[in-house]
Amino acid sequence: MKVDLLLGLQWGDEGKGKIVDVLTKNYDIIARFQGGPNAGHTLEFDGIKHVLHTIPSGIFHQNSINLIGNGVVIDPVIFQKEIEKLEPFDIDFSKSLCISRKAHIILPTHRLLDAASELSKGKSKIGSTLKGIGPTYMDKTGRNGIRIGDIELPDWMEKYRKLANKHESMIKNYNVDLQYNLKELEEDFFSAVKKLKSIPFIDSENFIFNQLDDEKTILAEGAQGSLLDIDFGTYPYVTSSNTTAAGACTGLGVPPNKIKDVFGIFKAYTTRVGSGPFPTELFDKNAETMSRVGNEFGATTGRPRRCGWLDLVALKYAVKVNGVTKLMMMKGDVLSGFKKIKVCTSYEYDGNIIDHFPFSVDTKKIKPIYSEFPGWDEDISKLKEEKAFPKTFMNYVSFLEKELNVPIAIISVGPDRTQTIIR
Ligand code: GDP
Ligand code: IMO
Ligand code: MG
Repeated sequence: MKVDLLLGLQWGDEGKGKIVDVLTKNYDIIARFQGGPNAGHTLEFDGIKHVLHTIPSGIFHQNSINLIGNGVVIDPVIFQKEIEKLEPFDIDFSKSLCISRKAHIILPTHRLLDAASELSKGKSKIGSTLKGIGPTYMDKTGRNGIRIGDIELPDWMEKYRKLANKHESMIKNYNVDLQYNLKELEEDFFSAVKKLKSIPFIDSENFIFNQLDDEKTILAEGAQGSLLDIDFGTYPYVTSSNTTAAGACTGLGVPPNKIKDVFGIFKAYTTRVGSGPFPTELFDKNAETMSRVGNEFGATTGRPRRCGWLDLVALKYAVKVNGVTKLMMMKGDVLSGFKKIKVCTSYEYDGNIIDHFPFSVDTKKIKPIYSEFPGWDEDISKLKEEKAFPKTFMNYVSFLEKELNVPIAIISVGPDRTQTIIR
């Protein structure tokens, strides 16, 4: 009987989807607990690449149940497309997927509000994925939201219309040039809601209590990353949910004392998509190489990801906030061929040396201080055993383990399921 968590420690896109897929065989239930279709989780196996947005990354394994928890926000239109893309793969969704009645629904007008808000911000926009995430969570905490369970109730259409009308007047108030045809958007929305209803809606917290009583094991799959957390991230350039460990308790109804391992996943360097501070960001050839070799383009929006060296100040902070018990290092293969590898170990901040992640991550005031490591030339993407790794690569791994004081339990050397070394 246990719940383990798997969380991104940076600004998202660490490779969560890949590792959840690798670990699913050890669990009975895979559960998403926050975020929504702003997430893009990539899985690769048998020469096929899959990108999941709302559906948990255990969906390709028979015998595991995939739960979309109460903390998630769901866009029926995106969900329908996701299901349709998976249709060739013979998945019995009625058995392997279920949705919490308490999860909130993203309405077409939430997406419009997201766009209007971003347009009104001009240069200081968040760089949101425009999936309506912020406005949907605002309605949730403002106690105006509509939940999955509401679809089954007789006053659902009234609820919908009331909220959509309110949103339309809010959009007008933004006074921005946003063209839209709500009738068309609603046609797609209501047809997608029909599809959504083919998936079982459940009282998910109850389901989880029963599963735990029956000694079943649960892996909670985080979305986004710790530095995008609404409380602990680089606010206001964050998402609108708690992406850190505590989010799994509120987003699933899992009590804290049922959590065992917290797997923290990070790239061997750093990326960020969207706006906001990024102290170790590079604008040179190294960034170009990371972007090209690492194929650093957003899985949801296709936007190029900003790239830079690993930031240990930020990573240590994320390890602490989440209580990480095991680390997983991804994309070390992308650094093959770099003559030197740098890691930021502290910041010079306003003339002082600091080693904590400050309240204001103001990149005008922060100068990262780096340690340098010799690189490795070998292609490590086909290696199957730790002992085959170049010495300089293992030195890098050992340095990080020592600094973070947590073992690196998995080393990933490529996007495919098989390119995974479990230590
Ligand atoms: P997630 O949002 O955390 O699930 O990560 P994404 O799927 O958005 O981004 C990770 C990207 O890196 C995907 O394109 C993966 O296929 C790819 N990837 C994952 N692990 C590795 C790795 O070890 N090496 C390389 N080269 N690519 C990887
Ligand atoms: P996964 O789960 C990377 C970023 C957006 C933007 C900010 C707010 O694939 O790691 P939002 O749409 O949430 O209002 O956008 O957060 N963002 C992500 N960046 N990976 C993600 O998810 C992200 N989800 C949101 O780019 O900067
Ligand atoms: Mg992603």
